[in-house]
Amino acid sequence: MSKPVVGIIMGSQSDLKIMREAAEFLEEMKIPFELTIVSAHRTPQRMIEYASSARLRGLKVIIAGAGGAAHLPGMVASLTSLPVIGVPIKSSNSIDGWDSVLSILQMPGGVPVATVALDGAKNAGILAAQILGSHDKSIAKKLDAFKASLRKKVEDSFKVIEKKGWRHIQ
Ligand code: RP5
Repeated sequence: MSKPVVGIIMGSQSDLKIMREAAEFLEEMKIPFELTIVSAHRTPQRMIEYASSARLRGLKVIIAGAGGAAHLPGMVASLTSLPVIGVPIKSSNSIDGWDSVLSILQMPGGVPVATVALDGAKNAGILAAQILGSHDKSIAKKLDAFKASLRKKVEDSFKVIEKKGWRHIQ
């Protein structure tokens, strides 16, 4: 097994139902990753250790998901110069999702978190792969194939809809 290059972390096990989509995409791309739970509020010391050792341990990108008062991505970004992708989660303690989005998105100047859509863990996985693919041709090739598959799906559906007519499509 090769060493993980992406670290996926989340504030609670309850976030896994969303965050697994990032893991599944990286698995599909055969990009080695690690996944664990690190809470900014409940395990602050563990968060400091995780983020400050990340680069030394060989990680290149961190994906951090949290909901509600979602400090984890921003705090992790403050502790490392690795790129951090934040996934706002509509968790049980979130009012309506906006709290999670804004706590992750509205970082003050100097400490960016690349924030994806609410519950957008799959895009976080794709973005992590794209960051790695910017200097790794084999990953870039897989991402090109993935993009081609997205294009083909739409092409197939517009051909069917144009041929059969929209009334016959469910
Ligand atoms: C956040 O609080 C976690 O990231 C999670 O989204 C939310 C709720 O956590 P649990 O109460 O389900 O553990 O810190």
